[in-house]
Amino acid sequence: MCGIVGYVGARSVVDVVIDGLRRLEYRGYDSAGVALVYAPETGEPYLEFDKKAGKLANLEAVLDGQDRSLEAACGIGHTRWATHGVPSDRNAHPHLSADGRISLIHNGIIENFGQLRVELEASGIEFLSDTDTEVAAHLLGREYAVDGDLTEAMTRVCARLEGAFTLLAVAADDPDTVVGARRNSPLVVGLGDGEYFLASDVAAFIAYTTEAIELGQDQIVTINRENGITVRGFDGQPSEGKPFSVDWDIAAAEKGGFETFMAKEIHEQPQAVADTLRGRIDETGQIVLDEVRMSDQDFRDIDKVFIVACGTSYHAGLVTKYAIEHWTRIPCEVELASEFRYRDPVLDRSTLVVVISQSGETMDTLMALRHAKDQKARVLAISNTVGSTIPRESDAVLYTRAGIEVAVASTKAFLTQLAACYLVGLHLAQVRGIKYADEVSAILDELVAAPGKIAKVIENLEPIRQMARDLAAAEDGAARVLFIGRHVGYPVALEGALKLKELAYLHAEGFAAGELKHGPISLIEDGTPVVAIVPSPRGRSLLHDKIISNIQEVKARGAKVIAICEEGDAITASHADFTVETPASPTLLAPLLTTVPLQEFAIELAMALGRDIDQPRNLAKSVTVE
Ligand code: M6R
Repeated sequence: MCGIVGYVGARSVVDVVIDGLRRLEYRGYDSAGVALVYAPETGEPYLEFDKKAGKLANLEAVLDGQDRSLEAACGIGHTRWATHGVPSDRNAHPHLSADGRISLIHNGIIENFGQLRVELEASGIEFLSDTDTEVAAHLLGREYAVDGDLTEAMTRVCARLEGAFTLLAVAADDPDTVVGARRNSPLVVGLGDGEYFLASDVAAFIAYTTEAIELGQDQIVTINRENGITVRGFDGQPSEGKPFSVDWDIAAAEKGGFETFMAKEIHEQPQAVADTLRGRIDETGQIVLDEVRMSDQDFRDIDKVFIVACGTSYHAGLVTKYAIEHWTRIPCEVELASEFRYRDPVLDRSTLVVVISQSGETMDTLMALRHAKDQKARVLAISNTVGSTIPRESDAVLYTRAGIEVAVASTKAFLTQLAACYLVGLHLAQVRGIKYADEVSAILDELVAAPGKIAKVIENLEPIRQMARDLAAAEDGAARVLFIGRHVGYPVALEGALKLKELAYLHAEGFAAGELKHGPISLIEDGTPVVAIVPSPRGRSLLHDKIISNIQEVKARGAKVIAICEEGDAITASHADFTVETPASPTLLAPLLTTVPLQEFAIELAMALGRDIDQPRNLAKSVTVE
């Protein structure tokens, strides 16, 4: 939540900051603001700021009308997802200290802000916003007045704050310095040639440098034009970050001719899945994880698996449960991260907790991970973001290689999570000796064939697009859309419904098809669209027969059925109103294919309804608050 950028260097500061905000806008788009520090040849340095409610474009319109004859020396910028206080100009960041010398931006939640606000108000400070952030700006102003050292002042302020925060600050009379601090919230440093960047994630600066430094928990970083980068802990002791190189290039953060990032990301799925699988099997046929701080014996000792995640990543976990239990015979439970620690699950050293997070920063998932570690469970992370907190705090990591995913609605991240989860399931089966090498390699052959099949599905999306457009055009035609599935088709149904809800703002629900008759079938009216995810008629014919019965049940009550089925499935074609065919695939791997038409259905329907595809209302890409 919230995108943060800071810059010191010779380029146009306002351009770098705004460009960074544009690339981070997917993290939040309720308001945007910048603070720039100027160092004129004559006279005192000074600070200017601008902030506007709404999308970044509103701020840009204000900045465009300004005189730029003097370039700023350094600057910070913020794009907000509102937590405390409605989206408005006054609640937009940056916030200023009472004397106006310090400007500060924040991502996260300062949990003890109420008590700090009372203390500051009692000392005569007048608050200008409803945010938790403003307390940090006033505290920093007060501490900076003590010795005029922004890093020292930030260190003293961080000692007083509780909760999750990334803070960036500039001072009017220190035009060469930006200071940042992080606790439980992301901050990375970009290392250019005589120029330095601070940002919530690397997307903000990959146009300028691919060299970065990952900061640890409770660290303060100072970037200064002369002195470069210095890092210290909240305890004031010198420290250092971990350097890494970013392997995304700038093209990954552009739309590349597509109308939306989401459309581009749907089309990138075959490549993303292929990249995620590439090189993951060694010459002896063993699956290779990226970072493993667990021995094979640790994996053998596992007697229970929990998968913990949120949203789309949770749906990837639900699919994985079927694969892990089938391939390894280890009991596997899937939990929403936001519920996990509160229900006090039974965990111990022989429990493996798999946390799935595209961003690697989702606070609910991070807190679940920490709870699992406190209970001595082993944690394996599946994440798309190298250097993010969740992989860093886990015992083992498998990175998906989806590349940067900009659209808020997750697409290629989901498919690559599935691919990575299948690898983890096979790894467990291998290490525990449950499957023979030839059995594993038969499944791997099918996995390796998946990108080609996904590409075929993508080539054949026009019929589902047309159905989406027709529904959008029909009066009340898409007021409610139901998705039904069985086995791995059930999580796919949930994912289809989530995509439609978040993009089109429609009532969409996913159900286990067998549950319909226990209540939800009363939602069906004449013409209600029902999307059925039908398993292959080969091999699992019982499942197939059951869902055909469910299709008949809803049709008998007036539903209009769109079936996603395997090519050549004549039985489904004879029952459904429309069919979308996907290539033949083993049942457990089918979600790699059947999800894709549902993504396209959601984007097309949302476009026909005039929705903002890449930045749906009320959402943010990276959810760094609980
Ligand atoms: O970064 P994460 O995978 O941890 O994010 C989890 C969810 O917030 C995310 O999958 C969300 O549900 C998607 N925007 C849905 O498309």
